[in-house]
Amino acid sequence: MTNNKIIGKPLDRVDGKLKVTGAAPYTADVSIENLTYGVIFQSVIAKGKVIEIDTSTAALAPGVIDIITYNQTPSLVKIPFFGNKETLPTEKDDNIYYNGQHLGVVVAETLEQAESAASLIKIISEEEQPTITMAQALSEVFEPESIFFGIMPGKITRGDVESGKAQADVTIEQVYTTPIEHHNPLEPSATIAMWSGDNLTLYETTQGISSTQRGIAAVLNIPPENVRIICKYLGGGFGCKALLRSHTILAAIAARQVKRPVKIVLTRSQMYTACGYRSQTQQQLTLGATKEGKLTVITHTGTSLTSIFDDFVEPVGAATTMLYACPNLQVKYRLARINAGTPTFMRAPGEASGMFALESAMDELASALNIDPIELRLRNHADIDPHTELPWSSKSLKQCYQQGAEIFSWSQRNPIERSMRDGHFLIGWGMASATFPTNSGTTSVKVEIFANGEVKVKSGTQDIGTGTYTVMTQVAAEALGLPSQQVQFELGDSNLPKAPITGNSITVASVSPAVHKAATAARIKMVEMATADANSPLYGFQAEDITVESGQIFLKQDLAKRDSYTEILHRQGLDSLEVTEETSPSPESKQYSKHSFGAIFVEVAVDELLGEIKVRRCVGVYSAGRILNFKTARSQVIGGITWGIGMALMEKTVMDAHHGRVVGANLSDYLIPVHADIPQMQVQFVEEHDAYVNALGTKSLGELPIVGVAAAISNAVYHATGKRIRDLPITPDKLL
Ligand code: MOS
Repeated sequence: MTNNKIIGKPLDRVDGKLKVTGAAPYTADVSIENLTYGVIFQSVIAKGKVIEIDTSTAALAPGVIDIITYNQTPSLVKIPFFGNKETLPTEKDDNIYYNGQHLGVVVAETLEQAESAASLIKIISEEEQPTITMAQALSEVFEPESIFFGIMPGKITRGDVESGKAQADVTIEQVYTTPIEHHNPLEPSATIAMWSGDNLTLYETTQGISSTQRGIAAVLNIPPENVRIICKYLGGGFGCKALLRSHTILAAIAARQVKRPVKIVLTRSQMYTACGYRSQTQQQLTLGATKEGKLTVITHTGTSLTSIFDDFVEPVGAATTMLYACPNLQVKYRLARINAGTPTFMRAPGEASGMFALESAMDELASALNIDPIELRLRNHADIDPHTELPWSSKSLKQCYQQGAEIFSWSQRNPIERSMRDGHFLIGWGMASATFPTNSGTTSVKVEIFANGEVKVKSGTQDIGTGTYTVMTQVAAEALGLPSQQVQFELGDSNLPKAPITGNSITVASVSPAVHKAATAARIKMVEMATADANSPLYGFQAEDITVESGQIFLKQDLAKRDSYTEILHRQGLDSLEVTEETSPSPESKQYSKHSFGAIFVEVAVDELLGEIKVRRCVGVYSAGRILNFKTARSQVIGGITWGIGMALMEKTVMDAHHGRVVGANLSDYLIPVHADIPQMQVQFVEEHDAYVNALGTKSLGELPIVGVAAAISNAVYHATGKRIRDLPITPDKLL
């Protein structure tokens, strides 16, 4: 055992200084000799055919090395991999499917030369009338059999919906809509591709180095071992850097063609066409309940938009199936196609949009029944997972409601709409539940303890800005009995032991148990070496009588009897000790339904004359298993709630109906909250000791805190004004 309590401490980010001093090499910062610069040129129409790409003028521009257009490169095909298709036209397919579709890349000696040359390319195309809006798309709707790359059915039912409806005393039947939204990470997507013979190295902005390695290898038809992906720092991903994208493929192809390294950094405006988006949804929701507030039926039909060439369903009903104990349920998906790129995962895909509908409808039901919104949720609390009928691995949702209500002073709420005022501001209080599943994947970790005192812990995971470096350092240091400063955690290189993609909030629950296992195994090995070594002061003692602290190995009863990692290795004549361990979700853990939960409470002030909405207070209480670092965890929550406020009040991507161009594809026109929009937040965790999820009891956290925020705000706006806004974002015009 060790005596080091480091897990849970609010340790500062171990990479914090590197980041704030600008020394952390993000992908586009990596300095490469002989580098060339690629600039992608795109379709400016949303539907039609390419007739000709005239590169003659551009090719003569200064510094131009090569121009690669889609019809010169047979490798630029529609590629199915890991479910998603990246569409680039091929020489056999001249179709334009959306505005912004990549048509090729200019490679030049400098970025400016490449940009200038790209502006000289003439694309002659034949334009057809595109389908852009949901209203247009809805004329051809279909019901997909399965969703989310085949892992979820397109329709889920339990019980008998008709009899559930018949049993209801009160029914809420409404349509909730959410717009297209974009991820907008601060760091745009970037890639540097370099070949050495048949081997490709990509410095890549990615949430998944291993999946990118497999994906690009499949596209280029080379063995994965010939590909190395490096991503040491990522300036946010949120889902838009989860899948392999066509700019990366273009960079690899261009670098092979020009026989020099090629760097492509997407422009901010290209970030609105090249990396996916959160799809627009229209959600029909029915809730039926008895007059005592017991749900008798839930139906949730989610219609979302996808591209012409690939199916991506926004799984809005994911939480609907498991959140409340309701015997009769139907969740169903419908898809319609528009001339846009394919949507993708965006922070809490499914839950973020779907819980806006469900938790708004619950508030409508609470009003209709004249039952307090928390009380209504408690009356329908699911003591087991109502869909799988499995017990929860842990669930502290009731504590989240209770603690949140207490901190927020919910009991002071006057339930009557328009009853609370502050001068000309109408005050409203609203709340909602949050939930997100805890998944995990197989992870390998290598621990190396060196005779010179260095300790390295390595795993091919990612830090997407969330704090992976920091929390894994803490887990390793605690298990090894070392101060955290003595442990270096390495990640972000496909040459390291394999770890899963950083998405779906699985990193902590996947990687932390593996780090703990490998570091514990290394410590045990060290102790064994000491007790077996006649020259050690610990020779012959039992392992259980020995403890490790600050790198010193003591006999518990006699602190003078001590050894150390470095001395043990020196005496054995070893330079280092190396241990690799792997963890996977245990069969036992599959007997439980694994979810994180939370409750969000907000106060809004609505200007009665102007309809302007200001969020004044936020209280979020979350139960996400064991929290590895209260500071990084709190930062995740603050980020998630902030995004939820943006989703509720500001975010919306608009495409012009004629050419399908994203209007205002930049950070000044696409509205997101700034500091002045965000109130003081009170964040609290209900600590759980989940014995089933994994050996450390860690659950998902990253995506959880955006869930429910938009509903809580909409519910608060209703409480303030008596107006129910079922269409996001809630802008002042909708209140006037
Ligand atoms: Mo997350 S939307 O799975 O990156």
